[in-house]
Amino acid sequence: MPVFERRQQSLFCEDLALSQLADHYQTPLYVYSRKAFSESYLAYANALGDHPGQICYAVKANSNIAVLQVLAELGAGFDIVSKGELQRVIKAGGDVKKVIFSGVGKTADELLFALEQGIGCFNVESEAELQLLSEVASSNDFTANISLRVNPDVDAQTHPYISTGLKENKFGIDIQSAPEVYARADKLPGLNIIGVDCHIGSQLVETQPFFDALDRLLLLLDKLAEFNINIEHLDLGGGIGVCYKDEVPPNIQDYIGAIKTRLGERKLALYFEPGRSIAANSGVLLTEVLFLKPTEHKNFAIVDAAMNDNIRPSLYQAWQDVQPLEQSKATSTQWDLVGPICETGDFLAKDRTLALEAGERLALMSSGAYGFVMSSNYNSRGRAAEVMVDGDQHYLVRERENFDDLVRGEALIPSGAK
Ligand code: LLP
Repeated sequence: MPVFERRQQSLFCEDLALSQLADHYQTPLYVYSRKAFSESYLAYANALGDHPGQICYAVKANSNIAVLQVLAELGAGFDIVSKGELQRVIKAGGDVKKVIFSGVGKTADELLFALEQGIGCFNVESEAELQLLSEVASSNDFTANISLRVNPDVDAQTHPYISTGLKENKFGIDIQSAPEVYARADKLPGLNIIGVDCHIGSQLVETQPFFDALDRLLLLLDKLAEFNINIEHLDLGGGIGVCYKDEVPPNIQDYIGAIKTRLGERKLALYFEPGRSIAANSGVLLTEVLFLKPTEHKNFAIVDAAMNDNIRPSLYQAWQDVQPLEQSKATSTQWDLVGPICETGDFLAKDRTLALEAGERLALMSSGAYGFVMSSNYNSRGRAAEVMVDGDQHYLVRERENFDDLVRGEALIPSGAK
């Protein structure tokens, strides 16, 4: 049974009507389903089965500590890109040994903190980072497990902003120079080479680019074996797409099954870093129509959520479905859903056929990934509250921000004109 579904007139999340949650917590409101998060994580874990390896949820997709807790309780590992994300994993009860640290700009402070916590592996993205990590680890008597993030130069055929595996992208180490960089890493103190890593992009709906990347990484592994560098795990990153509109995403069982087959006799553990495919369809953003503003050219529905709550439509021209929480009696026509922010680019959806009235509540579907985490306080708007649904129970997992939250850390200067 789908987690978000209409029962008679009302849109439900698990066993709760979303309109009931909107009444209780007000809008804008992010609502997550524990069941959806669990099932989408377990699709990966079950597909991996008893093959050695780890599913490291990409915390950046949705970093609410209750989300991390749900996944940690299922035994997930985590892919992080900052000290803050690591602190969240620890707070949520995650196993630090199952954490991998990605990202192009890790600072000495972040590297040391991660070493002190006993992190599983660093995905190193440049020679300069390798040097810094070696210095930080060896001068503090740590050995850092490392994997190099290799840029395999494959076209992920996705939106240019979320494509990461091409030569011209800032990510990773060019696959041609990877053997020499590994050889250098092998000689540096404080480092222990354990893996090879890549991440080629996000929202991929074809698996071929992943297989192309895999084939290139396997050739690299053969070269490394000539240097007597032994690789224990292959990390294929995240990037599996989801259905926002009519996309048909790869089946996880088939995808991981095909990778296992391609490994053949090689004794390699497999790591994955999925974010969107675990979180996107596990959450929705609820909003209320403030005013209807039909004009000669366009009909605008001004809603109480805006680009500060979900920037994906504005930033990537992303399409997310809009569903009324209760079926309305108004007649259907075309609407642009726009927010109260003073920017023409502030919209959540365009040209949607909806039956709207002022006061109507709507769900922006597929908002669980890169939704709340990319929200901001632009126009001095407090960020939305977040709620986790579990069956017929609901838990407030982040309070709505108030004015004190907005000005926390700000200060006035001594008054008086000069
Ligand atoms: N690993 C690394 C190193 C990454 O950079 C990313 C995402 C992931 C894993 C997770 O990828 P996923 O499974 O979620 O595709 N804000 C954009 C997406 C940016 C993705 C950045 N990297 C959006 O809303 O579409």
